[in-house]
Amino acid sequence: MKSKLITLLLCISLAVSFAACSNTSSQPEGTPQNDPGTEKTPAASDELPILGAGIYSASDNFNTYIGKGITSAAKGIFQTNIEDGQNDQSTQNNQIDTMLAKGAKVIAISVVDVTAAPTIIEKAKEAGNVPVIFFNKEITDESVMQSYDKVYFVGSTGVDYGATIQGEMIVDAWKKNPSFDKNGDGKIQMVYLMGDPGHTAAKPRADYVKKAITDAGIEIDLLAEDTGMWVTATAKDKMDAWISKYGDEIEFIVTANDAMAFGALASIQAAGFNTNGAQSDLYIPVIGIDALPEALDKIKSGEMIGSVLQDARSQGVAIVKIAQNLAAGKGPVEGLEYTLDEAKAVRIPYKAITADNINEAEETYAEK
Ligand code: GAL
Ligand code: CA
Repeated sequence: MKSKLITLLLCISLAVSFAACSNTSSQPEGTPQNDPGTEKTPAASDELPILGAGIYSASDNFNTYIGKGITSAAKGIFQTNIEDGQNDQSTQNNQIDTMLAKGAKVIAISVVDVTAAPTIIEKAKEAGNVPVIFFNKEITDESVMQSYDKVYFVGSTGVDYGATIQGEMIVDAWKKNPSFDKNGDGKIQMVYLMGDPGHTAAKPRADYVKKAITDAGIEIDLLAEDTGMWVTATAKDKMDAWISKYGDEIEFIVTANDAMAFGALASIQAAGFNTNGAQSDLYIPVIGIDALPEALDKIKSGEMIGSVLQDARSQGVAIVKIAQNLAAGKGPVEGLEYTLDEAKAVRIPYKAITADNINEAEETYAEK
């Protein structure tokens, strides 16, 4: 209190010669002196600014890894706590209200329901034009992204959401392993587990993986397709029915994410398939997307043939760096290695992962 008074008196006496004299002591490194975002920071606080962050559901494996990416990138820059939206929009809205009430400088959210984006933007505006970074679940409604100058998106490549790479990996594996064509008809007897249909990436992933295969001149005989909602247990249930109906007729299991690949794998392993990795007598190639750490083990053992890395750590780093810029009143990618596309998005590219380059995915998850 006393020192605050002295500071104030000093400020008043020096006010004529110095333009700004308040609140510069508690700013994070690299924050410009005229940072409008820190004006309301309590002078006595030497705490870090708050990054209000949340994922749509902690039971989503991949989102949990982005949360970890944010937490580790935020060390020494922001104080943050990854809220679990529990797949319930009203729960997440309450969490956002609390973040804003606590004075969050930036909000970073993977939204439960993409149609709730305007509500979240409104809340951030009302709280004093707080910047918002959506991640993972893309808000494809352009008018929403254009409705606020401080809203951005961090994710991975849009349009096909990694599925072209997945399709090319299938083509490659198919060509290298003639034994995969069990009935010798030249076509892939395939089953497909789709993501949550309410999710921006679900349909494009289902379409583009098939397009990449047929573009390579290989016909698909789609035995079954259904949504596994991104979830292991749901995927296992669907696969249980398919494996008992089609058994060894299935020549490829393609899933829109690894969590569902794990469910499919558990199901076919219970039916005696892939129990000894690539050496199994009964074998069906399985491929997912995300390249989660758990998938890397299964790729090494041959239980899965590969996955498409969606780089959770790099997304977390991008979110924090952009948030730091925005909190400092700078442009989102000013001085950073990222570029913003016309959808106001920063995108981290996908990467094919097989047993041959598994180290590239492992590096992503290595503790740093
Ligand atoms: C996708 C990811 C899925 C799931 C989904 C949920 O990008 O590949 O595993 O996390 O997002 O939004
Ligand atoms: Ca065949």
